[in-house]
Amino acid sequence: MTTTTTPTARQVEPAEHAHATELAFLAAYDDGARPPGWRLTPRAVVTFIVGSAGVPLELPRQARRDDLPRTLTVAAKFVGERALVERCVVTLAGERGLLLVGEPGTAKSMLSELLSAAICGSSELVVQGTAGTTEDQLRYGWNYALLLAHGPSAAALVPSPILSAMRTGAVARVEEITRCLPEVQDALVSILSDRRIAVPELSGTADATVPAAPGFTLIATANLRDRGVSEMSAALKRRFNFETVGPIGDLAQEIALVQRQARATLERVQAPFAVDEAVLEALVTAFRDLRAGRSVEGWEVERPSTVMSTAEAVAVASSLALAAAYFPGDRDVLSLLPGHLLGVVRKDDPADGAKLLGYWDGAVRRRAEDGARLWRQLWELRDVLAD
Ligand SMILES: Nc1ncnc2c1ncn2[C@@H]1O[C@H](COP(=O)(O)OP(=O)(O)OP(=O)(O)O)[C@@H](O)[C@H]1O
Ligand SMILES: [Mg+2]
Repeated sequence: MTTTTTPTARQVEPAEHAHATELAFLAAYDDGARPPGWRLTPRAVVTFIVGSAGVPLELPRQARRDDLPRTLTVAAKFVGERALVERCVVTLAGERGLLLVGEPGTAKSMLSELLSAAICGSSELVVQGTAGTTEDQLRYGWNYALLLAHGPSAAALVPSPILSAMRTGAVARVEEITRCLPEVQDALVSILSDRRIAVPELSGTADATVPAAPGFTLIATANLRDRGVSEMSAALKRRFNFETVGPIGDLAQEIALVQRQARATLERVQAPFAVDEAVLEALVTAFRDLRAGRSVEGWEVERPSTVMSTAEAVAVASSLALAAAYFPGDRDVLSLLPGHLLGVVRKDDPADGAKLLGYWDGAVRRRAEDGARLWRQLWELRDVLAD
């Protein structure tokens, strides 16, 4: 195991770097018509996001290049309905705003990053919405040293990521839009309807308005646990198509995703991945039961107020895998699961620990009694939850 890192290494690569080969391949593979400013065809964008279903794609003879593989199987990145991704792509192809709404940890941000990387080659034109976000951060600000020295000029203007996207016809992203104050959010109304930003300080010059180049559009995300989208102004809502991103429907797909992501985490720190699939299955099953308020078998389960998201399941699986890698042989990773689950369940309401205990006394006990070995082991760990 080596600990050396190059100074340019990044903890997280933006999607356009992490998947650069796939993006270049898809651009060559599908040379169909593209909406203005798009790097890929709408169909290729969907393939990039949901994958090629394990099927290797082969470059047509005339598109072959030395720097591209001849065949490539595109990995699935977002796990979910293809139709949802298609609707998102169609919205953006029409240069309409796209608002992804959903519970925390349902991959809204990931989807917006993948869409923007595939469409314009950059996912980095992003504004993070907070209670402190100002209109300047959505429009433009000033370099005050230049402003004071020379007065307002194009050189002194500091563009927001949105303004930069307008100039280049790219996709800008606004994360957690509903955390911004409604009056700040409304700065987007004129951007999305007029498709230009006026800079009154530069009136009388050629830079007094910045028009949006073809291809410019916006993807926003909103978390249903924050201040609701219902508080967005009607004018702004009307300028976005809404898409709701839900939790992963299928158990096997969720287990596979959790495993893939936890493996990737371990690869990043160059540690071996040694968690049994059975342990991951128990983990994901517990998450899904608590999320749904009903076990796989149909037994009633009391739901904690925290969202038991896939993102949290990935985090727990990664912790288990790191523990197994760095403290091998100390104890069985399964024995760490109840403690981690307790940590997640109590995030919103510390009293929810009792609900996890209820889950243990119900579903976990019944599975143990039915003779499932792993669940018997988990049942024997009940004490971890009882103190
Ligand atoms: N359907 C899914 N497909 C792929 N990955 C998923 C899916 N759902 C959750 N994940 C995992 O969850 C992680 C977190 O997703 P992301 O941060 O995009 O969620 P989010 O919906 O933006 O959450 P928040 O509302 O908290 O910002 C992803 O990186 C991925 O590991
Ligand atoms: Mg997010």
